[in-house]
Amino acid sequence: METTMTKRIYFDNAATTPMDPEVIATMTKVMQENFGNPSSIHADGRISRTLIESARKVVANRLNCSLSEIFFTSCGTESNNTALKCAVRDLGVTRIISSSIEHHCILHTLDRLEKEGVQVDYCKIQSTGEVDYDELAKLLSGSDQKTLVTLMHANNELGTLNNIARISDLCVEHNALFHTDTVQTVGYRKIDLTQIKVHFLTGSAHKFYGPKGIGFLYVNGENQIKPFIDGGSQERNMRAGTENIYGICGLAKALDLACDNMDERVAKIKELNMHMRTRLKEAFPEIRFNGPASVEGSLEKVLNVAFPPSSKSDMLMLHMDIAGICASGGSACSSGSEVGSHVIKGISEVSDTPITGKPVRFSFSHKNTIEEIDYLVEKLQAVFV
Ligand SMILES: Cc1ncc(COP(=O)(O)O)c(C=O)c1O
Repeated sequence: METTMTKRIYFDNAATTPMDPEVIATMTKVMQENFGNPSSIHADGRISRTLIESARKVVANRLNCSLSEIFFTSCGTESNNTALKCAVRDLGVTRIISSSIEHHCILHTLDRLEKEGVQVDYCKIQSTGEVDYDELAKLLSGSDQKTLVTLMHANNELGTLNNIARISDLCVEHNALFHTDTVQTVGYRKIDLTQIKVHFLTGSAHKFYGPKGIGFLYVNGENQIKPFIDGGSQERNMRAGTENIYGICGLAKALDLACDNMDERVAKIKELNMHMRTRLKEAFPEIRFNGPASVEGSLEKVLNVAFPPSSKSDMLMLHMDIAGICASGGSACSSGSEVGSHVIKGISEVSDTPITGKPVRFSFSHKNTIEEIDYLVEKLQAVFV
């Protein structure tokens, strides 16, 4: 029987990316050939151990740090939790400075730490979503407490980039520790840890065409933290549990591909973002671009817009889904009730005019095409006629 399927177009690459075929091939080979437990001392185990250490070397080389500073984790969420909780538990941190538009895995961890007695201060942000650096300097100079600053590199809903070199300089000046959530930028921006002083840094493979369920945490060698999962001696005693070998190899392959092809990929994504902005502005003159005003200086893969409020925009996500288009509502759904995005709320509060329309996040990959964008705009126009 013949079935007709609507063609699907994927503009939700900040949520997750499709795995690169070369990554799948790498992982499949490992699954088929290397099932040995990396902790076993026999030859099969030693081969698996070598694969893991080679993958660690890839990550360390790409970030320009030492091998011993990279720990594989299960995801970005675990890495972020670990950094914040270990900084408090093991490094004497009693105060954390962050912003209200970080990812929920940071914000909810901060809520918990605050309940346990840690002082948490939220630094002001600008209307683009970038941190207010003067305010950060003030917050840092106003206290003698051992402080950790946790600020993301790129915001996942807006694509706004924080200047992590500038934040790092402020932290060095005020003797504070610095953690940065680079989940959206690893593989999209060159990060050189010999140039920027960072104490913790987070990455997650599924955002750069690698598998889900694998991430990493960079922990600067100066930090003497204690194990974050107790058990065996995996990850140099820090994170016990038999390693996700194929995930780790997939992460390394995906990172190599992302870094080797970064310039071409970013150029293509930038072209798509610019085309989308132009087409949307022509089709919907009242559309508002949330976050960065232009693609220059932003993370090109994300474009967040607010469609003018109307009864039609309420059903926008549904109409797009029916038309085969995957995008994100820019809002989280919890317990069946729609809760507005904390990020949109955060920038709206500091904007001259509050954001009232329906926010939608489109996020691109180098695999998207100009034709897909034209198709999307056509479908959007059909919704609003
Ligand atoms: C900025 C940011 N941090 C952390 C995470 C969590 O990463 P993971 O899905 O690997 O847990 C995400 C995922 O959306 C993210 O965008």
